[in-house]
This record gives sequence, structure tokens and C-alpha cells, in this order.
Amino acid sequence: MFKYFLLKILFFIPLISLSQDLITNTFNRDTKSLNGTWHYIVDPYETGYYNYRYKPYDQLKENNNSAFYNNYHTDNKMALVEYDFDKSPTLTVPGDWNSQAEKLFYYEGTIWYKRSFDYTTTSKSNRQFIYFGAINYKAEVYLNGIKLGTHEGGFTPFNFEITSIVKPTDNYLVIKVDNKRFKEAIPTINTDWWNYGGITRDVKIIEEPATFIQDYFIQLKKDSPKIISGSIQLNNSTKKEKITLSIPELKINQELITNENGIAVFEIVSKKINYWSPNSPKLYDVYIKTEYQTLKDEIGFRTIETNGPDILLNGKSIFLRGICIHEENAMRGARAYNDADALVALTWAKELGCNYVRLAHYPHNEYMVKLADKMGIMVWEEIPVYWTVDFTNKNSLDNAKNQLTEAITRDKNRASIIIWSMANETPPSTPRNVFLKELILHTKSMDSSRLISAALEKHYKDGFNIVDDEIGNYLDIVAFNQYTGWYGGSLENAPDMKWDIKFNKPVVISEFGGGALQGLHGTIDERWTEEYQEYLYQQNLKMIEKIPNIRGTSPWILNDFRSPKRVLPVIQDGWNRKGLISNHGIKKKAFFTVKDFYNKIEKQYR
Ligand code: GCU
Repeated sequence: MFKYFLLKILFFIPLISLSQDLITNTFNRDTKSLNGTWHYIVDPYETGYYNYRYKPYDQLKENNNSAFYNNYHTDNKMALVEYDFDKSPTLTVPGDWNSQAEKLFYYEGTIWYKRSFDYTTTSKSNRQFIYFGAINYKAEVYLNGIKLGTHEGGFTPFNFEITSIVKPTDNYLVIKVDNKRFKEAIPTINTDWWNYGGITRDVKIIEEPATFIQDYFIQLKKDSPKIISGSIQLNNSTKKEKITLSIPELKINQELITNENGIAVFEIVSKKINYWSPNSPKLYDVYIKTEYQTLKDEIGFRTIETNGPDILLNGKSIFLRGICIHEENAMRGARAYNDADALVALTWAKELGCNYVRLAHYPHNEYMVKLADKMGIMVWEEIPVYWTVDFTNKNSLDNAKNQLTEAITRDKNRASIIIWSMANETPPSTPRNVFLKELILHTKSMDSSRLISAALEKHYKDGFNIVDDEIGNYLDIVAFNQYTGWYGGSLENAPDMKWDIKFNKPVVISEFGGGALQGLHGTIDERWTEEYQEYLYQQNLKMIEKIPNIRGTSPWILNDFRSPKRVLPVIQDGWNRKGLISNHGIKKKAFFTVKDFYNKIEKQYR
């Protein structure tokens, strides 16, 4: 029997649930970045977390915690210590671990991260929070030997209060990250993208006054283009507080008073709004001022609605000239995570002639949606309820709802986001419909200002392509993926295919396309050549523009991307080759087919 040496315990405080409601707009707050070099320990057997009876150390009653979250230093030569962060290798944060070390390329499991830091507060009365842009997939977070909490979900932010724990020097932050896939997770086990693990987005400490502006929603009131409405939430307000909401360019300087819950709601009439749109992505400086702080944001105002088959942006019918994007810098073969990565992707989208992007298949980092606001690119944002999720599992539903909550909380003030999507290619069934309807209700309860969709599928019967998925009745936009000419169907006949779509709603082709190895040339009859992909796009676009109620498309996909399902030697080698651009940033012939099509469509919708 293994006898673990009882380590001298600095002190062990049982798990305290310190998780806080999400703090938004962290870019404009008083923060200290913890990005940089962190030590790590690969722990495939989770030795640092479970004792030999497979009990988590941080939930044991007796004071025994040889887990890896105590940075234990001792002069006792007899001490049994079988780890040492400071002598362990390092990873860069943010960033997935798979692309940073050859031995981690396909690693799925637990890795422990550790970072030491000093912290000087600007005022004794202030409070401190530690904020994570995202960690894939599950994180256990410890600071100075105290467990702050757990987070599940690989693509949305979370924070914990650390006011009573953080010290002026030698704080040690330890995080157990586990990216193992499992059936009940969101996404579930089977996906067509690589399951990058790690602290994949920014880490920062946020310093706030005792009573601070935690969150706010400032957008146009639904169906009221002259009314700016919303709410402001203070954290730890012990009395009614005065708030000033000002938008100088609109000559708005509104005094508000919070209610007993620290919330102030408002509706402000403004007749001179310069509405946000792709051609004019106007963002207003917005200031929220309390007795204790002033917080600035840049917010665009626009209306988005549907009317029969039309999608109306600021009352005008539009066509979504889109492209799908994974959160990956293909040239690095790694998770994208910063402004530079976002600029590469959205600049390519603009070159393609896009006014819209589908951020697949999960919420992307905040740089992407903030840049989309600035560049005038409309956004479809989705959570990874993808393929065969465990629709009968309440934990899976709660997890999906939580990921929606965190995504909507973070991004609800971004004018560029016009669609929240619930799912991708999920197999119709009663449990699946119940699950998705729950997500739709939850989304509407949080944000009734945006459109709701999901990437459905079509089926073929008696010469017709049919879209009759019941969940379409609950969506604002009927979107579906179709791969004519790649996963079956004749390209030659594509332009004459017949469609039967059972809804009088806007139709968006949320995915179509086919693979090509950039630089491989041949005839249009040779799969994997650029010529085949180009012909596939030519024929699909001729078909698409004839589909009833068509109001947009987002071909699959901007870039080649990593997928362990794509193993054809020489051609795929672990990459999904459906990109219009290769993983070396080289545009394939089909890129220009789409560009020409969007150029034509743009003129039709002027
Ligand atoms: C599906 C799926 C994508 C996948 C693509 C493909 O439609 O939504 O995630 O990568 O098809 O097969 O390449």
C-alpha cells in the first residue's frame, strides 16, 4: 500500500466556492496580466489530484494534500516530495499545449500549470479577481493552497474573487487543466476539430473598488430604433447608488438610481443615432460612472429582425455574405487567441467580400468579436452543442446553458453579433428537440434583441432536398449544412436541384464546400484538386442562389484546420482541407469563385 508522506501543511482551507458572476469588459478595467511563461507538469494519471484510493485530495477531511497545488519547499531531507514545479518545463500562456511541445501534440489529459506572482493593490479597500478568458476543458483553480473553484467548458470566460487570499509577494497560482473528452461534455466525444487543451486565452487580475460595475447591457430596445435601453449591475451595492450613463456624441448624460439589488434599468430616447452596419460600423464611446469608478466601452447600435424571408438590418433587407471560421491560426497550427490572429482571419474574410462570419463551433475569443464590431462584420456565435451530444443528460443541458450564459454575458453589447446559434448538425429526436427548445428559451430570456438559429440538416426524398426539421419552427433563421458534390450528390445537376423548405423564414446555408490540397492541380473530375473544389463551388453557388428564401451563406471554411479525423497521407495528414485558404495562408482557386459571387450579390442588395 502506498503510504503518502503527510506533507507539512501551510494551512488547508476546505473548498470555498468563491466563483463570482462574470465581470465583463475587462479590456477597459484596472488589470494586471498573468500571461507569459508558466511551469507545467504532465499528469495523465491525475496523481496530483487523487490519492491512491482515487479520492480528490482537495475534498479529503483529514489534512492531507500532497496534490500538486501546494508549492512545497522543505529542508527536510526525508520529506517525500515527488514533484517540483520550478524545475519542471514551461508553456506560454495563453496558448494550447498541443502546439507548444512535440510530446504534447495529441495529448489529452491533465496538465498542471503553475505561475508565481507578486501583487500590489492600489487601495486597501479594493477587491481583486482572477479572470480567465477560457481554459479547455475543465479547470480546478488554486491560489496559495486554497481552492478557488472549478470551471467546465472550454470556450467561455470565468473569474473568482481572491481579495482575501492574494498577497503582496510570492503568490502561487496552480491550475489543473483536463481536456479529456467524455460523452456528457459539451462538446461531446466526437468532433471534427482538434481538441486543443490548455489555458488557451488571457489570464488577468482585475482590481475593483468594493462596490463596482460588474456588468451591463446597452443596446437598442427591440423594435424601437430610437430607444437605447438596458441595465447596469453593480456588485456589492449596499445602498441605492447614483449612476451616470453618458454617450457624449448623442448628448446623452442620464442619471440613474440602482434598486435594492444594485441594478439600474433605463430607456433613453435618441433621435440622431448613426446606426452600426457593415458599411458604417459606427461605435459610440459609452461611459458608466459611479461614485467609485468610471468604465468606458465602445458600443454600436443597430436593429436586427426578420420579416418573412427577409433579414432586416436597420430595416433594410440584407444578404449574409459569410464564411465559417474555426478559432485556429492555421499557419501556427494552434488555437488563435489574440488581436493579431483575429486581424488575419477577419482581413481574409473582408478580402473574400464578406459582411458576415460564422464563428464555428464554439464562442471565439473576445478579440474576434470586438474586432468584428470595429470592422463592420456581422457575427453568428454558437456553443459547441455539436453532433451527438447526450441530449437526455441534465448535466449536459446545464453545461450548455452555462456556456450560453457566459457567451451572452460577455458579448451582449457587441453590435456585430446578430445571431446566437444553438447547435450544429444534431440528429433530430424528441430529447434533442426538448434540449434545444430549453436552450432557445434560455437565450431569449437573456437577450431578446438578437436572432436565433441552428445549423440543421436537409434530407433527400423523391427528387427533392427537404428541410423540415421540427426545431425550425422555433428559429428566426432556418440554417442548414449541405455538401452537394462532396458527401454525395451530383455537381453537374446541382444547379437544377429542387428544394422543399417547410418554413417561410430566411434561409442561410450555414455550411457547404469540399476539400482541396492547395497547389494540387488537375481536372474538375479529380477530387482533392483545386480545380475540383473550384467547380464544386461554381455549381453549388448556382444552386444556392436559386433556393427559395435564400438570404445568406457561410461556406465551410476560411482556412484548412487541424482534425484528427482527416488522415489521408500526403493530402490531409491530420488537416481538414476544406479551407479556401491553405494552412500556409495561400488562397486556393475557389476563394476567387466565392469572391466573385459575393461581388455580384453585394450589387444586388445595394
Ligand atoms: C460538418 C461539420 C463541420 C465539419 C464539416 C466537414 O458539416 O459541421 O464541423 O468539419 O462538416 O465534414 O468538413
